[in-house]
Amino acid sequence: MLKIGNLTLENNLMLAPLAGITDMIFRVYAKRYGCGLVFSEMINSNSVLHGGVKTLRKMDLHPEEQPVGIQLAGDDPHIMADAARMAYNAGAKILNINMGCPSQSVTKTKAGCALMNDPLLVQKIIRAVHKATPLPLTIKIRLGWDDLHMNYLEIAKIAEGEGCVGIIMHARTKVDRFRGEARWAKIKKLKENTSMVVIGNGDVTDAFKAKAMLEETGCDGVMIGRGAQGRPWLFKQILGMQNKENVFEPTPHYIKNQILNHLEWSLERYGHPEGIILMRKHFAWYSQGLPHSNVFRKNIQTILDLSQIHEMIHQYFDTLEVTKAA
Ligand SMILES: Cc1cc2nc3c(=O)[nH]c(=O)nc-3n(C[C@H](O)[C@H](O)[C@H](O)COP(=O)(O)O)c2cc1C
Repeated sequence: MLKIGNLTLENNLMLAPLAGITDMIFRVYAKRYGCGLVFSEMINSNSVLHGGVKTLRKMDLHPEEQPVGIQLAGDDPHIMADAARMAYNAGAKILNINMGCPSQSVTKTKAGCALMNDPLLVQKIIRAVHKATPLPLTIKIRLGWDDLHMNYLEIAKIAEGEGCVGIIMHARTKVDRFRGEARWAKIKKLKENTSMVVIGNGDVTDAFKAKAMLEETGCDGVMIGRGAQGRPWLFKQILGMQNKENVFEPTPHYIKNQILNHLEWSLERYGHPEGIILMRKHFAWYSQGLPHSNVFRKNIQTILDLSQIHEMIHQYFDTLEVTKAA
């Protein structure tokens, strides 16, 4: 169990916000496999207030994913406070402010990781968002802009002073983007210097790494992003290892059923062809590391005809099942 403010979670595993990937469907799968807390992908506060259909769709929450967090991005305290109220009304149980996104399209304003360069603005934003709703408030940061400006302890101190109850840290700088290894030692340092709940993030891809991050850094919980792509059952595997149970390993038949279910739901939610186009990256991730998956991936990427897609999925995974049994 993990407590963040007034929210009690069943365990300390979290799904990271991944723009364009961790939509409602993916979050529900993560929850079904035991993930303690899922967050929406980043939602731009300005777009929320303009009421764009695609942005508002990101605030659709499913009863099965509760308790769910909504992550907001932006650089205007008042607009972010308004967006926070909308997130609260949409049913979020916890809020997160994005202070880690390295993307040029986000940091060209003062949003995302650019916020870390302006501690005063960070304070104003947290104060306004905190006042706007009764929800527990958290922030997601990086180490800082670059190696010469690693101000994560300063930002943590501000957040704690303004009433944040949790901090998630991706242990890289903005300039690192995704290069090199995440610097877990900095997560340990953060944990030693704050009384907020500390969630470590960066490079956890299996149950052993989740265990290692918890042990090496003393952090309260682990957030997983890329490691869960195509493997929503990773949470079940980590919990299995924690409980000393047999670790769950999906068979090709099991993965096939997961893909078919995901595809069906994607079509139901987004329609044709968007539902298929959005599935293409998931097809690739679900089949990653399986024999001859490069051919499967290449062939399925260009097709929009549903019956042809079904045929390819059945053919590929049924052949794997037969090869495995032989
Ligand atoms: C495609 C992609 C999209 C992402 N979108 C977001 C986002 O919307 N909000 C956010 O805070 N971080 C976002 N991130 C960063 C992740 O949440 C996470 O911090 C990072 O991937 C490191 O964790 P990992 O090694 O477990 O993937 C994104 C990362 C990727 C690769």
